[in-house]
Amino acid sequence: MPPHSSKTTLLLLAALRLSQAHYIWPNKHDILEDSLTVSGGLGQSGMMAEIATCGAAPFGGRLVGRQSAAEWLRVAYHDMATHDVHTGLGGLDGSIGFETDRPQNIGSAMNTSMVFFATFQGKTSSVSDVMALSVVLAMKQCNGPSIPFRAGRIDATAAGPDTVPEPQQDLATHTTMFANQGFNVEEMIGLVACGHTVGGIHEVDFPDSVPATPFDPNNPEGVVHFDQTFDDFDNHIATEWIDGTTNNLLAVGHNATTNSDARIFAADNNVTMKAFAKDATSFQKTCGNLFERMLNTVPKSVQLTDVIDPLPVKPYQLALNLADDGSLELSGYIRIFSTAPEAMNVDPENMVVNLSWKDHNGNRNSTYTSTLTAGWSNSTSLWGFVHFFPVYTKLDPNFGLSTIFVDWAFNAQEALTHADNGGAGFPLNDVVFYQDSASCNTLTNTTIVVNIRNNLGPVSDAFVDYYYNVNQQGTIALKTVTVHTPLTRTGSSASALYDVYTAVFPRPPRNQQGRTSFDVTANVGGKVYTQVANLAIQNGCGL
Ligand code: HEM
Ligand SMILES: *[C@@H]1O[C@H](CO)[C@@H](O)[C@H](O)[C@H]1NC(C)=O
Ligand SMILES: *[C@@H]1O[C@H](CO)[C@@H](O)[C@H](O)[C@H]1NC(C)=O
Ligand SMILES: *[C@@H]1O[C@H](CO)[C@@H](O)[C@H](O)[C@H]1NC(C)=O
Ligand SMILES: *[C@@H]1O[C@H](CO)[C@@H](O)[C@H](O)[C@H]1NC(C)=O
Ligand SMILES: *[C@@H]1O[C@H](CO)[C@@H](O)[C@H](O)[C@H]1NC(C)=O
Ligand SMILES: *[C@@H]1O[C@H](CO)[C@@H](O)[C@H](O)[C@H]1NC(C)=O
Ligand SMILES: *[C@@H]1O[C@H](CO)[C@@H](O)[C@H](O)[C@H]1NC(C)=O
Repeated sequence: MPPHSSKTTLLLLAALRLSQAHYIWPNKHDILEDSLTVSGGLGQSGMMAEIATCGAAPFGGRLVGRQSAAEWLRVAYHDMATHDVHTGLGGLDGSIGFETDRPQNIGSAMNTSMVFFATFQGKTSSVSDVMALSVVLAMKQCNGPSIPFRAGRIDATAAGPDTVPEPQQDLATHTTMFANQGFNVEEMIGLVACGHTVGGIHEVDFPDSVPATPFDPNNPEGVVHFDQTFDDFDNHIATEWIDGTTNNLLAVGHNATTNSDARIFAADNNVTMKAFAKDATSFQKTCGNLFERMLNTVPKSVQLTDVIDPLPVKPYQLALNLADDGSLELSGYIRIFSTAPEAMNVDPENMVVNLSWKDHNGNRNSTYTSTLTAGWSNSTSLWGFVHFFPVYTKLDPNFGLSTIFVDWAFNAQEALTHADNGGAGFPLNDVVFYQDSASCNTLTNTTIVVNIRNNLGPVSDAFVDYYYNVNQQGTIALKTVTVHTPLTRTGSSASALYDVYTAVFPRPPRNQQGRTSFDVTANVGGKVYTQVANLAIQNGCGL
């Protein structure tokens, strides 16, 4: 085979792999992608509130002397540490919620974190995915490595084995424990050094290791940090160890029994720690790789997604409604994300963002366009530039809508970039869609109203799946339950082309925890249409 042809084959293979990896909107992991991408302003999930800085304390800063970013990293490691490479069981699966009363998980960090994580839990965001995301965001906020994020973790429904290391155990025990989790000696040293470059050890929880000090209202739990830059993800844990200036109480504490870091750091005669101390960049890189493996250590039955990177162009809350005059209203936002250097200084007012679409039958028309202008979303991202462009346009239901495209540029002089969602455009079905303005809650019932096109054949299997979360015994993590309710035709609509279908069901508990969402589905003329992950309705009926 001539060399150029094998090259071509390789290129084709690479292209194939890339196209398979495309993240298509809408996606069941959209909420996680949103939380990954948007850290402040419109579209933010709120996860960054607890880690507004690397050193920030939990509960909006109220738990002084504590550090959310460090607690989240420790929680994730302790959760993962139930993995057993021999059985393939355990791993990052949220089982930590059931394990908080064990001595190895001592301290309030576990439950404090779970209380926060549970607020992001829902049908499409397991608590273990939220935990993985928390580490990705926290490490980035601490100037640490950019850890690739995958979703798809499934939450455990019971505790795992008690295989989290404790400081009084000897090196052989730790080596075996890490090996069972899938990490060799060098990787064990790496994980511990990377973990202990943020945060510290608390006197209230580890009185055998931390000397007693008088009560300090600014540090009520008596934390002593592992290195002098506890709120910066740097290699000082290693430089201080190697140059003999460390005050790490798990390395040079008065109690030799609990100096597990010293035993681990020296386990390969300091070779790994010396390399970390010498090269800050390779420390970051090694930590990024090890944390990625840690987060992706899951029960063997779990299939993780491809890496989810911030999407360059993504609709946000983009939805159709039927207006009183019988026209279709398309509203929501188009989000643009970029890591291009020029993006950092761009004025969104100067950007060109054009929406175009294909009608119901897949046809284009020069009138099917809308020019978007910047709204004041003021959003921020840890990874680059992000901005939202409001969409509002009215459509004739006779023509309708099937697919959206976005053409955009940083300014009018630049060539437009065509965004087509991995090839086929951004699909938006005008056949079965939820009518926000007509859906409501009474004291006892929830009513969800859906418009269904009436000129495409018979309607069958129309239903709403409503997802909300309930408490579980023994853990703060929630469990998602589904309410399945058929949709029945209740009348005509403002448009001759749509009929109104309604689902009424007993209203789920008032103070729904975590993320509530619902999907609407119907078979119309032999084809199934689903609108996923609609947000909770809040308005009262008749208001
Ligand atoms: C032999 C293995 C390990 C032992 C014995 C150990 C032990 C400890 C102890 C005793 C603390 C103090 C906790 C507190 O007072 O709240 C601590 C804190 C911490 N550990 Fe480890 N650890 C080990 C491995 C790891 C690993 C592999 C990671 C992460 C990859 C990690 C991440 C952390 C973090 C971030 C903190 C700081 C928590 C905070 O500031 O609230 N540890 N560790
Ligand atoms: C050292 O730690 C061990 C294990 O926690 C404990 O049994 C022992 O009492 C401690 N010694 C001192 C002097 O604190
Ligand atoms: C490892 O480094 C520490 C701290 O510099 C030192 O005390 C210790 O003797 C070294 N151990 C080995 C085996 O090199
Ligand atoms: C984008 O919109 C502007 C303003 O309406 C228009 O001049 C331009 O031709 C549009 N470009 C494309 C590719 O649609
Ligand atoms: C384009 O759409 C308009 C209605 O918006 C319609 O009047 C016109 O006939 C369409 N043109 C073509 C070529 O389909
Ligand atoms: C966004 O920033 C602009 C300019 O600083 C300010 O005028 C506007 O009020 C902000 N909007 C929001 C929603 O925060
Ligand atoms: C709630 O729904 C039930 C069953 O559809 C119905 O009988 C009842 O009248 C409804 N109550 C209210 C207040 O709408
Ligand atoms: C954490 O919360 C769970 C569930 O409410 C509870 O069973 C457990 O005792 C708590 N753990 C701690 C350490 O407070």
